[in-house]
Amino acid sequence: MPAPADLLASRVAALCTAVATSQVDGLVVSHPPNLLYLFGVSASSGLAVVTSAGATVLADERYREAFAQAAADLPGVTIVSVGVGSSYEETLAGTLAARSLRAVGVEAAAMSLGRASAVRRQLPKAVFLVETDGLVERLRMVKDPWEQAIFREAGARLTEVAACILPEVLAGRQERAVAWDIEVALREGGFERSAFETIVASGPNSARPHHRAGDRRIAAGDLVVVDFGGVLDGYAVDMTRTVAVGAIGDDQRTWLAAVASAQRAAIAAVRPGVLPSNVDGAARGVLTKAGLGERFVHSTGHGLGLEVHERPTIGPRGDASGPLAAGTVFTVEPGVYVPGRGGVRIEDDVIVTATGVERLTGAVPGFEAHES
Ligand code: GLY
Ligand code: MN
Ligand code: MN
Repeated sequence: MPAPADLLASRVAALCTAVATSQVDGLVVSHPPNLLYLFGVSASSGLAVVTSAGATVLADERYREAFAQAAADLPGVTIVSVGVGSSYEETLAGTLAARSLRAVGVEAAAMSLGRASAVRRQLPKAVFLVETDGLVERLRMVKDPWEQAIFREAGARLTEVAACILPEVLAGRQERAVAWDIEVALREGGFERSAFETIVASGPNSARPHHRAGDRRIAAGDLVVVDFGGVLDGYAVDMTRTVAVGAIGDDQRTWLAAVASAQRAAIAAVRPGVLPSNVDGAARGVLTKAGLGERFVHSTGHGLGLEVHERPTIGPRGDASGPLAAGTVFTVEPGVYVPGRGGVRIEDDVIVTATGVERLTGAVPGFEAHES
């Protein structure tokens, strides 16, 4: 379900304003999730030239009709066709020259050096490309009420998937088989796809934060990190529980309790105006106090949206995006990893509200001790 036209129009208008107040005369949008955000079209190719006055979308025949349909409802948005005998680079150079732009921003994180060089070679001398960072991503960070409703639904559905699937994490089962059950449960739960390759990391494998599900068989005494996510109406949600299979050791129990307590502290620190590094610090402080600070080897969380990892980063160096604003959605996922022995991660998704925080995932029967 694409975003309604009035919402797309307001996003395009907000980007036109951002370009008007930036250092560039126009911006070339090439990152597919940014095109999806602005025009409601999911396309593997496509470019948009956005100025203070409006947007021109460059599309080849595979996507031209979809973009044209969207543009019909969007004031100030026009379409340029990329012919089969032409290329995006050539069409872009022609479009920029025709609009008499001089300083043209490109999304440095999304445009390859090869593509930028190909465009440069075809540009008139007076036009030059300038690297920009996150002009659209900054708009994407704060979710509007339409997006927030999708996140609430997606969070509830992911929690249901967790409740169905976690009791199936049993001794004797292969990691890969559990991962497949999760993929099926995600589809049956209405998700259009999984948000990333499902992680089922058992025993010593759980010490690797991004272990891929393999052929190891789960054994009694294992910790099993199960990390899964789904995409609903384009938006990704992401959740992790760590299952204790059979009787686990005292150390493992300590890790579980410490990570649960770190997650509670981090969620309690969330409210508008707080810096991401403070939320990270709340989790890291608890684990450091428990003597596990050095085993917490990643950030506390990441933004969620049309991509599973987006702004803001909830980490010690995550303040580039500024203080948290109401409507921002992100994960809170502290972890402890002890090489050769095992690990624990607990991950939930939250949204910053006007006064504090609301959880989008959580409350899985049997895991209450590890939930905020
Ligand atoms: N599964 C990736 C993450 O939790 O960020
Ligand atoms: Mn995850
Ligand atoms: Mn995550």
